[in-house]
Amino acid sequence: MRPDDLGIFMAADLLRSGGLVAFPTETVYGLGADVYNESAVAAIFDAKGRPVDNPLIAHVLNISGARECGEWTPLAQILASAFWPGPLTLIVQRKQHVPRIVSAGLSTIAMRAPSHPVARALIAACGFPIAAPSANRSGRPSPTTAAHVMDDLAGRIPLILDGGPCEVGLESTVVDATGMCPMVLRPGAITPQMLATVAGECQVADSVMRQLEEGEYAPSPGMRHKHYAPTARLTLVEGEDEDVKRVLMTLAKGQRDTWVLALDQELSHTEGLRFKSLGKDAGEAAHRLFYLLRQADEEGVERIFVKALSPEGVGLAVMNRLARASGFDIIHATEAYKESEGRI
Ligand code: TXA
Ligand code: MG
Repeated sequence: MRPDDLGIFMAADLLRSGGLVAFPTETVYGLGADVYNESAVAAIFDAKGRPVDNPLIAHVLNISGARECGEWTPLAQILASAFWPGPLTLIVQRKQHVPRIVSAGLSTIAMRAPSHPVARALIAACGFPIAAPSANRSGRPSPTTAAHVMDDLAGRIPLILDGGPCEVGLESTVVDATGMCPMVLRPGAITPQMLATVAGECQVADSVMRQLEEGEYAPSPGMRHKHYAPTARLTLVEGEDEDVKRVLMTLAKGQRDTWVLALDQELSHTEGLRFKSLGKDAGEAAHRLFYLLRQADEEGVERIFVKALSPEGVGLAVMNRLARASGFDIIHATEAYKESEGRI
């Protein structure tokens, strides 16, 4: 439905009566419910098939909205002042009156003030925070268009507000702001460098770029779950440009059901590969990644190779999603080439 005045009115009305609504944000589409309505929040988990131990994000208009749900900290104040509204989620202790189910039983709560005008109009019309994870079936790539939401949730939810394609294309940066130093639990468009500029320092959880061991503690429950996965098997290829090219020519050349994803300048002129461009830089790659993964599924692609990006700036967020989408299936091309003694 169009997100005009009538659309916002109907959506707010549905949320007020305990229904679910999918809505656009600047990152990805969210699937929302009234944060204070336990059965509505439970319905989000049902509609998505989301594991019950994976907490949601409360979407608020501004800092005073966030203070309503969480025990605000000096660090949260600094970060929110600098980056809200925008693609940054802050974790602080949850206030008692917010139902436990929103945080999947954790004592903390994740909150963010989106910048998308439709998301903001909806929160304002409701007058309460909106609990919302990404509006995909659990395990699928996050939706960056209303059509993606339809593909995953048609028949399971009553209303989708269509705000066109999302600007960022990857989910928000999730930061633990309970202590003195920001700790990035999920990288996004607000980079560790940007956070350090305002907070003086910034840490990145080491599990951002590696697989958790069986039974290992997850600082963010989302890290435990397989994520962002297309149906096609996805493999990351990293190493020196020439070595990556050699590996790809061996594994993907002439294969009709195999896609090769990379930044424009890197592989576009290689013959025999079904090259799909991630754009000219990491920012464009963030915008296109989930779109391309869903397109690959639609076209029945069976195998996807992705040339690794440098994990700097937004590149870290792109690589985090790719590593998870591949189930950490990563070819180290330069080492592979050396080990094969140049036979690849
Ligand atoms: O950009 C976004 O963040 C989008 C839009 C809709 O706002 N939402 C989104 O939500 O990506 P979701 O549920 O797909 O991801 C929320 C992530 C999960 O990885 C979850 O584990 C983590 O945030 N999270 C939520 N509450 C947490 C908490 N109290 N402590 C640690 N991690 C938390
Ligand atoms: Mg999600």
